[in-house]
Amino acid sequence: MRSYEEAFSPYWHPVAFAHELKERPLAARLLGRELVVWRTGAGVAVTQRYCAHRGADLCAGEVSGEGLRCAFHGWTYGRDGRCVRIPSQPGAPIPPSAALASFHATERYGLVWVCLAPEPAAPLPEWPELEDGSCATVPLPRLDWDVSAGRMVEIVLDVAHLSWVHEGTFGNPEQQEVLPYEVERLPQGLRAQIVYPALAPPMGAAPPKVDKTTLTYEVSFPFAARLHFKPTLFFKHTVYAVASPWSEEKMQCFYFASYHPNLRMFPDIFVKSELAILEQDRLVGEGQRPKAHPVDFSGEAHVRADRLNLEYRRGVIAIRTGRPIDAPTPG
Ligand code: FES
Repeated sequence: MRSYEEAFSPYWHPVAFAHELKERPLAARLLGRELVVWRTGAGVAVTQRYCAHRGADLCAGEVSGEGLRCAFHGWTYGRDGRCVRIPSQPGAPIPPSAALASFHATERYGLVWVCLAPEPAAPLPEWPELEDGSCATVPLPRLDWDVSAGRMVEIVLDVAHLSWVHEGTFGNPEQQEVLPYEVERLPQGLRAQIVYPALAPPMGAAPPKVDKTTLTYEVSFPFAARLHFKPTLFFKHTVYAVASPWSEEKMQCFYFASYHPNLRMFPDIFVKSELAILEQDRLVGEGQRPKAHPVDFSGEAHVRADRLNLEYRRGVIAIRTGRPIDAPTPG
């Protein structure tokens, strides 16, 4: 079994919404590492957060034309992490130790993504509808939850909890049975379509029932999920959740929703409605034990309705062990 950090470092994880990154460098955390995120004309850069000279916090520094300048003695680092200027001794050779660890970084879907390993093990999720102008999106505030990334994804993928945890928002307490469904394995993830008569989002005091909503769940390993609702009462609707692991027991989730562009003047409705739903999930997720996402199937009981969760867990276990996904799913 590989360590948590070793297993998930070769994947892309978001560390910030792109709109959060302005002129100032931004602090971030991923898999136990403290990072600083900054942007130059050449694009986004991510390095270790603390200066190679005397450990000053580079988030207090400034981005100049040359790179990121430390506020303590003015050492300046390029995008590759190497020091390019030491003002106290101009013209002298720069020692090789004057360098920051630097990481792969890119911007896509309104997020800043980072891969900590020398080579990414998988591409970013493919969400073309976010780039072809067919929908508008609205991000939620970052969800800073005391929940492991794997547990968070399992909550998003869990169909049976909708009627219990989300009563009063979009869950339908009259529909407790989960009808049989198939789980399809994709090159980098999973997909399942499940019919569930959800309720419309809580825009009124008594939301009407919607017959036969089809929920399409798609997972991109390890921690990204897309959930498409078709139809809800008024519009097609998709939510995206990407859990970014701070440690084995804690994550931040980058969560956003897409909707028909004609509704782009109503983002507050979506934010309010999604936050109400997610708060219900947070209360459950932060209470789960063990906090770490289990890396086997013992210690918890499983039933057929959990199938999507189980397939997801099999994939995560494969990443942790470095072995292919081939074991049969219990339950
Ligand atoms: Fe950063 Fe000295 S601590 S330049």
